[in-house]
Amino acid sequence: MENTKSPELMEKIVSLCKRRGFIFQSSEIYGGINGFWDYGPYGTALKRAVEKCWWNEMVEKRDNVDGLDSTVICHPKIWKASGHLDKFGDLMTDCRDCKARHRVDQMEDQSKCPACGSKNLTPPREFNLMMKTYVGPVSDEEHTAYLRAETCQPIFVDFHLVRVAARRKLPFGIAQVGKAFRNEINPRNFIFRSREFSQMEMEFFCFEEDSMKWYEYWKNERVRYYTEVLGFKEDEIKIHEHETLAHYAKAALDIEFKFPFGWGELEGVHHRGTWDMSRHQEFSGENLEYFDQENNRRITPTVVETSVGVDRTVLALLCHAYDEDTAATKKEGMDEDVRIVLRFPAKLAPVQVAVLPLSNKLSEPANKISTALKKYFRVEFDVTGSIGKRYRRQDEIGTPYCVTYDFKTEEDQSVTVRDRDTMAQDRVAIDKLKQYFQDKLDM
Ligand code: GAP
Repeated sequence: MENTKSPELMEKIVSLCKRRGFIFQSSEIYGGINGFWDYGPYGTALKRAVEKCWWNEMVEKRDNVDGLDSTVICHPKIWKASGHLDKFGDLMTDCRDCKARHRVDQMEDQSKCPACGSKNLTPPREFNLMMKTYVGPVSDEEHTAYLRAETCQPIFVDFHLVRVAARRKLPFGIAQVGKAFRNEINPRNFIFRSREFSQMEMEFFCFEEDSMKWYEYWKNERVRYYTEVLGFKEDEIKIHEHETLAHYAKAALDIEFKFPFGWGELEGVHHRGTWDMSRHQEFSGENLEYFDQENNRRITPTVVETSVGVDRTVLALLCHAYDEDTAATKKEGMDEDVRIVLRFPAKLAPVQVAVLPLSNKLSEPANKISTALKKYFRVEFDVTGSIGKRYRRQDEIGTPYCVTYDFKTEEDQSVTVRDRDTMAQDRVAIDKLKQYFQDKLDM
């Protein structure tokens, strides 16, 4: 299906996510809370698969990247040093007529309310995005702390501890996956911009003279990841080089995805210079320099960062995967006009294999197959409803393979494996199933 700018497509994805238990509003029975989303059973499986896949690509497959899992609340001085407390904000304006609140940089015409067209707007005001809390029993200035606004700052702060523990020399990277919080003025487009979200960030520490080489390397690696690992089509992503750069940066770009609401940033690849390390050195008073033995010099490491949102990756995958198949609907004896199918890459699908006994009477032996496969794959056992309806349900959650246990199975010790995308049906011996799926799932 053509993925051009389409509010209807976005609505369909949001509604499918709720109906099938991928993602829904947080605190729904209380009317919801703007900018916060809960992941249901299939959403959780998908999100975990995304994180695992990124971790495998960025940490486990490499010899030069280590992992970190830092706290969400860190010393408040970190956010002073990083500039977040002073500068991390947007300009906002309120419409005095309809009471809508807008980010000024997102308004096409900054003199007019995008919601109601009124020109009765408040003057733009600065708004800090850091989420505040208090640590300890007293809620005062002295005990104020902040929920981290990006996962990378603790990486800079822990640089030496990680480097020494992992016995690293430059260049090497530190990666972290975790929650970040921003008091966004205008959370929107489902999970694209929320107030609580997860990031997957990798900070690569290198020598200044090699930094542009690493920047190019990571840009290419990350584009390769989207096309080869996640399977995005070449016309679904593009690179947007930043025209204006922070004074300390040599280069920066966004990898954008073609969402149904238009192109949007999925990931940033940033040359951060020595800014973060120098600032933490200045504010902590600790020496964060690196001694380069080969050249007998002390340097402040230069950093190249790759930073992507987990939730935005999940949304991009949902948009990429969503399809309405009209050609194949009659094939399986169903009389509906449209077959909704999520064509997730098999390694990320929340359910990779569904085991479906043709009749209730076959539940017991079929369940044994399901239990055996669960050791290796994400498997769901489903016995309710007609086989056609069960196929459709699995299509809607993006299951690449359905195993049907039928009355012939007892005789030939084989099952039918139905492929979500081709809808072809293979007869496979039960004792070959594990290998069959391992080959198919590229594991
Ligand atoms: N450390 C650099 C940094 O945080 P960023 O461009 O502010 O850079 C990086 O964020 C990525 O985090 C974005 O490309 C996006 O995928 C994700 N992200 C940022 N703000 C978000 C929000 N409010 N909701 C969901 N994801 C967000």
